Amino acid sequence: MTENEKEIQGTRVIEVCSSSDLPPGEVKIVDGPDGVRIGVFNCDGKFLAIEDRCSHDDGPLAEGTLDASACTVECPRHGSLFDLETGRPKTLPAYEAVLTYPVIVEDDKIRLEV
Ligand code: FES
Repeated sequence: MTENEKEIQGTRVIEVCSSSDLPPGEVKIVDGPDGVRIGVFNCDGKFLAIEDRCSHDDGPLAEGTLDASACTVECPRHGSLFDLETGRPKTLPAYEAVLTYPVIVEDDKIRLEV
């Protein structure tokens, strides 16, 4: 387990930040289990999390352009557009989904189930 991981009632969780530290239109990238990095996005008030690795050619997906109203991110490497709710690409060249993670917001804290 990494420094920011905990186990709560049998579920592994990662502490991300307080919800006020991730305003609409912003992303925070955190370390997940087994060296995976995870992008946590605020899509106009809805928090969503995906693997920070494009399924096409391992591009740094969470560093791409976020469209907060559409809940999509564009891979900075070759431009595939990913749906943050499902992890599925909406445009080529990527055609496989990336992992998504449940986000828990409680007492102003954002946590991920991993
Ligand atoms: S690495 Fe993301 S579209 Fe190619």
